[in-house]
Amino acid sequence: MKYALTALTLTMLGLSACGGDARAPAAGPAIPGSDGPLGAVPVPDDNPLTDAKIALGHQLFFDARLSVDGTRSCYSCHQNENGNGGADPIAIGAAGRQLTRHSPVIWNVGYMPRLYWDGRSSSLEAQARGAWGGGNMGVGADNLDAKAAEIGEIPGYTEQFAAVFGELGATAETVAQAIASYERTLVCDVTRFDRYAAGEIDALNEQEVRGMELFNGKAACVACHAPPLFSAQYGTEEGVYYNVGIGIEGRPAGEVDAGRQRVTEQDADWGAFKVPSLRNIAKSGPYFHDGSVADLEDAIRYMASGGFANRNRTPLLVDRELTDEEVSAIAAFLSSLDCGELEEPELPGS
Ligand code: HEC
Ligand code: HEC
Repeated sequence: MKYALTALTLTMLGLSACGGDARAPAAGPAIPGSDGPLGAVPVPDDNPLTDAKIALGHQLFFDARLSVDGTRSCYSCHQNENGNGGADPIAIGAAGRQLTRHSPVIWNVGYMPRLYWDGRSSSLEAQARGAWGGGNMGVGADNLDAKAAEIGEIPGYTEQFAAVFGELGATAETVAQAIASYERTLVCDVTRFDRYAAGEIDALNEQEVRGMELFNGKAACVACHAPPLFSAQYGTEEGVYYNVGIGIEGRPAGEVDAGRQRVTEQDADWGAFKVPSLRNIAKSGPYFHDGSVADLEDAIRYMASGGFANRNRTPLLVDRELTDEEVSAIAAFLSSLDCGELEEPELPGS
């Protein structure tokens, strides 16, 4: 909320100081989220938002020409039909190469202090370069500037890169900056739940209200999936990670995805993954970092069962002994967190 307060203070100063004189035009678009429960999305000083940059990033996010073989755009694995997560349990990258984890929901990524299931990336710009250079799109970290130059030569992109980045034009960094700027606009904060929380009590039906009460009470989901983001990582610097036993059953320890431990090298983080937001969750199956659960009610049942016992399972997860009817009520409540859809832009030269 820091940004919102600053904006408010400036408005008040402006009003009292210039008494009706023409004021300078706003420097950029309104910061996404400013008026909602999530607050203004953080924007780094070295990549300010502009409408033209957001529009450019929007096109790049949808453009498969960015990938090594023209088969994958960012959107390929973060599509509307899949709740903007992935359809495949484990994502399949360019050249048909299987990755190691499930594609997470892309809404509200601007609020995540750390990105990826293990939190190994600390900025959307770095993450975009990672996905573009790595297996997702297969270009290779060393070839990004060359690929960017190729993209920058497509009529329609040339002008936009010049207008947004001037002499820099299309480089690995400017492509990543534009994509990150677009991603910062993917704010989902006006769901039925948010309307209910703002006092519109008809926005949720009886079963959904009961589900919300269970979520906050008997099932204790709120301990980790707290509003407004429905993840405890909101507002933290490093994110929040727990071992809830996913991906461990039936695997020798050496073959388990060690998750957060691969970043921190701490034994306490073995098998721990970040607490995902539950916004848009009803639309985004399959679930968990390994996409191992197809159905939302089964995912809820798992989370409420205490999780698979292992040497590092968090003590916060215990069997809540929910009935089937209670699980359904929680699922109904979670569907009140449905977000909208990404808009498909028209792409230059295609
Ligand atoms: C082949 C599928 C695929 C493609 C293409 C892809 N992604 Fe992803 N994305 C994933 C997977 C899988 C993860 C999780 C990886 C992990 O946690 O190790 C992910 C994670 C992310 C995250 C982190 C979300 C979070 O909550 O931590 C962001 C942001 C993201 N992708 C944006 C992008 C952008 C931008 C592009 C294009 C440059 C892109 N993705 C291309 C599959 C894909
Ligand atoms: C101790 C913290 C904690 C508690 C309590 C908790 N969760 Fe989670 N939840 C997590 C973590 C961590 C993950 C990611 C696990 C993974 O993929 O390895 C997760 C994942 C999920 C997912 C899958 C999300 C996705 O993007 O695939 C759903 C759905 C979910 N939780 C619902 C619930 C519900 C409903 C409750 C209450 C019954 C609950 N959780 C309680 C930490 C928690």
